[in-house]
Parts: sequence; C-alpha cells; structure tokens
Amino acid sequence: MTTKNARELTEASVEARLAELLQQERFAPQEAFAAQAEITDPEIRARAAADPTAYWAEQAGRLRWSRAWDQVLDSSEAPFYRWFSGGTINVSDNCLDRHVEAGRGDKVAYHWHGEEGETRDITYAWLLERTARFAGALRELGVGKGDVVGIYLPMIPEVVVAMLACTRIGAVHNVVFGGFSAGSVAERMEVSGAKVLVTADGARRKGRTAPIKPSVDEHMGPEAVPSLQRVVVVRNTGIDVPMTDGRDVWFDEVLEAADAVDPEPMDAEAPLFILYSSGSTAKPKGILHTTGGYLTGASTTHRQVFDLHDDDVYFCSADVGWITGHSYIVYGPLANGVTSVMYEGAPDYPHKGIWWELCERRGVTKFYTAPTAIRACMKWGVEHVAPHDLSSLKLLGSVGEPINPKAWLWYWHVVGGERCPVVDTWWQTETGAIVITTLPGLDAAKPGSAGLPLPGYEVQVLDAEQGGVVEEGEGLLAIPRPWPSMLRTLYQDPDRYVSTYWDRFGPTTYFVGDSARRDADGYTWVIGRVDDVINVSGHRLSTAEVESAIVAHPAVAESAVVAKADDLTGQAIVAYVTLQGGTDASADVEAEINATIADRIGKLARPKRIVFTQDLPKTRSGKIMRRLLRDIAEERDLGDTTTLADPSVVDQLQQRWQQG
Ligand code: WTA
Repeated sequence: MTTKNARELTEASVEARLAELLQQERFAPQEAFAAQAEITDPEIRARAAADPTAYWAEQAGRLRWSRAWDQVLDSSEAPFYRWFSGGTINVSDNCLDRHVEAGRGDKVAYHWHGEEGETRDITYAWLLERTARFAGALRELGVGKGDVVGIYLPMIPEVVVAMLACTRIGAVHNVVFGGFSAGSVAERMEVSGAKVLVTADGARRKGRTAPIKPSVDEHMGPEAVPSLQRVVVVRNTGIDVPMTDGRDVWFDEVLEAADAVDPEPMDAEAPLFILYSSGSTAKPKGILHTTGGYLTGASTTHRQVFDLHDDDVYFCSADVGWITGHSYIVYGPLANGVTSVMYEGAPDYPHKGIWWELCERRGVTKFYTAPTAIRACMKWGVEHVAPHDLSSLKLLGSVGEPINPKAWLWYWHVVGGERCPVVDTWWQTETGAIVITTLPGLDAAKPGSAGLPLPGYEVQVLDAEQGGVVEEGEGLLAIPRPWPSMLRTLYQDPDRYVSTYWDRFGPTTYFVGDSARRDADGYTWVIGRVDDVINVSGHRLSTAEVESAIVAHPAVAESAVVAKADDLTGQAIVAYVTLQGGTDASADVEAEINATIADRIGKLARPKRIVFTQDLPKTRSGKIMRRLLRDIAEERDLGDTTTLADPSVVDQLQQRWQQG
C-alpha cells in the first residue's frame, strides 16, 4: 500500500540525517504540539511536590468512587503503605460502565486486528456487556472476592474481557504472558493457588496454529496444581482439544448462559492482580497491585504522558501479559475512555511494515513500543516504513530498557517525521505506572535519558556505598516517597517484599534495582539492573531462573548464566554449562537443553549462546565469578584473575568463546 504521504526515505538519507541529529542534545517540544498539549504548566511538578498527597487525591478524584476514602495515604505500617483507605471503587465500573452511562458506549475501545488481516471493532458497550456476563459466569464457577484467576491467552479481545470480569467481582487475576511455556504457567498457578484458569484452544503464531489447551492439560493436572478447579477455554483457532468433564468449560457457552452482574464495590486496598516477574532468584516474584491506587496511577500517567485527547487513536505494541499491557493496553486506556489499536500478531507478520500499515489505516496518533522493536525496524530497513502515511502520528513512546540515542533518533526522524515528541518512559512491574519521563508538551527530551520524575513522584540517585544523595553522577536509583500504584507486597511473601525493596535504604525509600546517572539538569540516565535480572528485548528474566532450567537437564552438572550486551535485543543470554562426568557436549545435548528451557520457562529464555566447558571460574571458596564470565562474553580484558582457584579455566573459556 503506497499512499500520498509516502516519504522519500532511503538508508543513505536516514544515515546522513541521524549523523546530524546525533549532535543535538535536547529536543524541545515543537510549538504545534505544545500549543495543543494538556499539560503546559511549568509549575506542575513544584505544585505536586508541595503537597503530594493532595495532588494524588486530586488525580484519584477523577475516578468514580462508590465511597470516598477517609485517608489518602496511611504510612503507619511502612513499607506496607495504604492508599485511599476506607474508599471503595470498582475498576471495571471505571473502565466501562462509567463511559457507557455517559453516552459513550458506541465509542470503539479497541480496533482489533488479527494476524491474517481480520478486524473487529470492540466498543465500550460490547466490552461492558461481555464483561458483566463473564463476571457472572466466573461467579457461577465458584469464583469469589479474593480468589485467584489465571489468564493465559493470546492478544485477543477476550483477554480484556477476562481481566475486567475479574475486577468486576473482586477476583484477583494472574495473567501469564503467552510466550511463557505451560510449565511456567503451572508454576505460577500453583504458587498463587489459582482456582480457575482462562485459556484458549490454541494461538495463531505467524500463520501457524500453536495448540495451547493440550499443553495446559499436560502441565496442570490435579497433582501439579491442586487448587485449580475449573479451566475456561476460549474457542480461538477452532482446533480440536480435549475437554475434561467437570473441570473444563467453553468460554462462549458459560458466557451465554450467565447473567450480567453489577460491579462489586471493592476496598481501595483490595488485591487487584498479581503479576509474576523475575527477580534475583529462580523463584518469580508475585508482584501484587491493589485497586484504587493502581487505577489512579495507571490512568493519571497514561493521560499525562500520552497527552490524551478525545479523538486519539492509541496503539501500544506490548503484550497484555506484561505490566505494560496491563497498565497501558488495558487499565490506563480504558479508564481514560480512549480508542486503541490491538494487534494480535508479531511485528514482522504478515510483513515487516504491519505496524505502520495499521497506524496508517487507523489514523494512529500515539504509538508506544520498546527500543528492541525499534532496533529491529532499523535493521529491516526504512523501505518498510517509508511507503506508509504516518502523518496522523503525534507522539511516540518507548519503554522497557534504555534506548540508545541512535534508535531514539531513528524513531524520531523515520517514524515521527521529526514532528512527534518521543517519551522514553522508565518504570517497572513494581511501580505499576510510569515514574520517569518527559512531559511531552513541556519538557525537552534528551535521547538516551528517560527524563524527570512525573508530578507527584520523587526519584533519587543514591551513592552505592554511603547511601547519600548524588546530585550529579552515578549511583543507585531510589524512590524516596510512596506513590499510589506501587506494589503492595509480594504475594504470600511479605518478608521477601521487605528484603528485596526496603532493606537497602530503609522502609521509606524504595530500592529500584537499577543503576542510573543524574545529570546537571536532574535528568535520569538509566544504566541497567544491579541484580541478576536480564532484560532481553524488554522481557524481564532472571539468570537464576534460566540456570535452574538448564540444570534440570540430566546431563548437566553445573551452569552459570550471564547477560551480554546485544545490539538488537539490548541484552542477550549466555550460558556456560558443564556436563556430568563423561558426557560429551554434542549438538543433541545443546538442542535438548534449549528444549528444556523452552518447556520450563518459554522460548524467549533460550540462550543466544551456550558454551560448554570442563569447569567454571571459581574463587577458592567455590563461588562462581560471573563478572569474568560476562567479561569473556563481551570480549573484555579480564584483569586480575589471581583470586581464582584455577586461573587456567578462564584461558580455556576465552579460547572456546573465540572459536565461536
Ligand atoms: C528496565 C517494564 C531504561 C529497568 C515496564 C527496569 C528501563 C526494568 C526503562 C523493569 C527505560 C524499563 N529506560 N530502563 N525507559 N523501562 N526499564 O518490570 O531496568 O518488565 O528496572 O517493567 O526494565 O522491567 P519490567
């Protein structure tokens, strides 16, 4: 499809322009954008900082509460903070009923696009009708307030219905990204004690059908997940799947049979969802978000950062299975009543220009993606972007990992036509909502820096040794004041919540786990994780999790996993593996190890490279020196290796590495 506003872009012209733009440090909002922007008050941060609780109360007040709160912030049991105590609110009511009652039922919530070109326009009224009935169905299946419902679905409208239906009756959803394996779903269902799982017969993956239900059955028998009583199956691909009598039901059938139910007023601090995320150990952390504060944070930041207007068409390319999907595909956009584009498929299917085709077709105004995707688009070439009319775009967002200036500039020049502000949004599953970015109508962006804390937030860089505030320079990122959408605990593991986030700087300063640099203008430049979390294509994984999947293979004696910088994916996984005595490394073993990882975690966790070795570099006390393994993979000088029990190990490893 070539259109009137196609642009003359060639690799050479882009390269030349980026070389010029690399000289420019700041990108101030353009006049045309600033003139229409919602937030232009340069004092907004100062006003919020003068009285943060009043500021957040004002934001929360934009939502519909069934009972007003008694107290905005209760810090009496810090770090177990409570927001809007005494208030009651329902999330699905705010995302759906409120808009429909205001006469906006016919507004499209999602222009859904399937990977084979089908499309469905999902209105707010449609979503409400389905959500209210599916909530009734869940109740009939025995789900009550506080019960955990697992959701393992592809990017189809039913995933939104399932999530909202949970919120309508106060059930706690636990969504697992479709790219994770059924084995990892089983683990997350088991540890969260899920009562019901909502899944699909199969998913479409780049023109093929991947069966889901059969692998769910394989991993989620009564022994593996004793709490699981019912499995609800969405007929998505229409493939034949086994259904277990008394346990499995079809989504469309239970929905058809159920009565619509009204939204249940929920305590502001009632659990809303759990999202498992990787931490320093092999055991994923069940990050728990609650109702009133989370919705306040997600909706406020979505409105501010994306400069929302009534006629926006917003497209976030994430998957609902990650926090970005929760906050910025589902809850933020729906609470704000915007129209979104939801795409089922991969960015390169059916072709490498599909996102831009959808932007053109739907007149997308705000687009939000990850640096790794931008770098992939750069690699695929401007010829996939240039034919499309992207003149409807007004703003571009980035999330998930630091964005290198070149990718930032490419996004700005090639996609945004040098017209659209780029907001680099820093946040985490734990923060629930964006914390650091530039307000697009107000702040200048600096490519590579996320920017400034949003109004109502405070962010610090603290000295790693002394803990003092670093005004300008490097240190550990910290948030010294609670915010409404912060995680409340780790599900059923409050001790780990305290030790992970609040031991380092005390119960009032949240330890982020990232290192960062603060510049003279107060801008934050995030460097990366300081724990054993790896960020591959914006997907959060832990080294320990991958290691434990590798050692599950019977031939493996020991394994150490490290992250290596990667031009495309940000970081890539490198695994060093020693096999049980006598076993030789072979292509078969390597394939089997990869299969084990795919089965236990998901294909996304397969290492970019597996290096077989007779031994790992260890200190005399037997501790694996991961720093050296990383240096080997990044081909750096190894420096002092005299503390090793056997320094010759690293020489052998370096040779291995170079042999490729
Ligand atoms: C990293 C994703 C630099 C960071 C929303 C953080 C970023 C981790 C950015 C959280 C950004 C996220 N610039 N780094 N704009 N956004 N990160 O929980 O290391 O999947 O701690 O949340 O991603 O990953 P998570």
